[in-house]
Amino acid sequence: MNNIAVFASGTGTNFKAIFRNIQAGTIPAQICCFITNRPQAGALAFAQEHHIPSYVISPAEFESEEEFGDALLRILRKHDTNWIVLAGFLKKIPDNVVEAFPNRILNIHPALLPAFGGKGMYGMHVHRAVFRSGARVSGATIHLVNQEYDAGPIVMQQAVDIADCRSPEEIAARVLEVEHQLYSRALQKVLTTPFRVEGRRVIFQEP
Ligand code: GRF
Repeated sequence: MNNIAVFASGTGTNFKAIFRNIQAGTIPAQICCFITNRPQAGALAFAQEHHIPSYVISPAEFESEEEFGDALLRILRKHDTNWIVLAGFLKKIPDNVVEAFPNRILNIHPALLPAFGGKGMYGMHVHRAVFRSGARVSGATIHLVNQEYDAGPIVMQQAVDIADCRSPEEIAARVLEVEHQLYSRALQKVLTTPFRVEGRRVIFQEP
């Protein structure tokens, strides 16, 4: 069984969409644990309501990134985790966790990477930059997580026409709708189709 650990810091609408698709049987996995850095995260309340083993843990509690990583790894190993899904987790994943899960950590970014990505580009910062740029298209990206911020190999993307959007908030809402479908499609794909990574490219073994 694919055991997925979900990390989120916010409302958790992506987490909820994945949870619903697992329940519907379209994603062959189970959520083995939930991790957040924010006790007030809506995603935490959802995980607790659904009896998912949940942990509130923050890098601020530890002397170093490595110790934070070791604490995360203890939780992940306790639950036999084999995939990590970041669904709006606002802390950097420690290098020792990335190394322990090579090509087994996914993240969602609310733009078409490599554009509008990198440090500081999260949430509304992304959509404001897209709006100011005059871009007519935005979208969402699912990528494997490596040590570089938002720079891991891209698994799947979905473009969104934003030519008629009159504010960053309108872009955000339209992209979020696509995120909910895209993340589940990408998860289903990586869990059912062997792939290899060549540089920044994810190559799926097509039948
Ligand atoms: C999403 O916009 C996602 O792209 C970004 O964080 C946000 C999480 O939103 N990584 P939610 O908590 O899933 O609603």
